[in-house]
Amino acid sequence: MASGTFGYGVEYGEVVDIERLGAICCKGTTLKARIGNPTPRVTETPGGMLNSIGLQNPGVAAVLEKYAATWAGWSVPVIVNVAGESVQDYVEVVRRLEGVPGIAGIELNISCPNVGRGGLQFAIDPSAAAEVTAAVRRATDLPLLVKLSPNVADIRLIARAIADAGADALTAINTVSGIAVAPGRTKPLLGNIYGGLSGPAVKPVALRVVYEAAQAVKIPVVAIGGVTELADVLDFLAVGAVAVQVGTAIFADPTLPVRLVDELAAYCAERGHRTFLDLVGTALPKRAGAPSAKGVEYRP
Ligand SMILES: Cc1cc2nc3c(=O)[nH]c(=O)nc-3n(C[C@H](O)[C@H](O)[C@H](O)COP(=O)(O)O)c2cc1C
Repeated sequence: MASGTFGYGVEYGEVVDIERLGAICCKGTTLKARIGNPTPRVTETPGGMLNSIGLQNPGVAAVLEKYAATWAGWSVPVIVNVAGESVQDYVEVVRRLEGVPGIAGIELNISCPNVGRGGLQFAIDPSAAAEVTAAVRRATDLPLLVKLSPNVADIRLIARAIADAGADALTAINTVSGIAVAPGRTKPLLGNIYGGLSGPAVKPVALRVVYEAAQAVKIPVVAIGGVTELADVLDFLAVGAVAVQVGTAIFADPTLPVRLVDELAAYCAERGHRTFLDLVGTALPKRAGAPSAKGVEYRP
């Protein structure tokens, strides 16, 4: 389950058989509580939605107090999505998560403005992305996933910097920056002006980012972006993902991810695959150093 779309897991207990999920990434967690952005915060778009929640969350201490004991009783791994505005913020949150029963890993949301660098996002600068990854790596032995933003010119540089800084895996993608216009057309619609686009509309972008990242690094890549059916999962596996997250589609059907688990297993069984890993990377270039591994190939 993708961060921000499944709360802390407990909210869906009546509807979803939590234990049948591969893992749950919880809502972005920060050092202090955040009230989030001004409303409106969400709007539907063709093939997706824009959101500007602004990382509303009760802060790491409250998250641990409210949910950690419940998570410890589950066998499904809970990965805490961590956000911050400085390297120190991230490190401090991660330190508090270290060693807490019920926490299986960390997913760093680095699509946050870095106060120390004038609000430049960690995710769009290889050295800032590497710095925060390395600092968190030193602070925790938990599995460390770092989430890529698609809003960059060349994802390979960022992916390599994060891998070299000690991440265990990459997750991709976070939302695509966008805006909508308010009724009357005198201003943008969202209270924050900018929002993040998600849902089927972003799947081609996510496929491209996973395809490029999978060729750029040796660590595993987890795909996210527009999954609504088994064919989407198979596409992401084909371009090199070893796991897939479901986000926006959960709002329409929270039972979808469990169904996808069953459908993937049935698909593998029908074709004689003992593991879905046989399906990983089948659409990647067969030879090393293919053009798509070198630079941005898109020319309008
Ligand atoms: C309402 C909403 C809230 C989100 N909150 C977070 C968040 O707190 N941290 C994060 O890393 N990603 C967050 N995301 C991004 C999703 O985890 C995911 O990367 C993105 O939506 C693309 O996947 P999808 O098309 O399946 O939704 C959020 C997305 C939505 C729609």
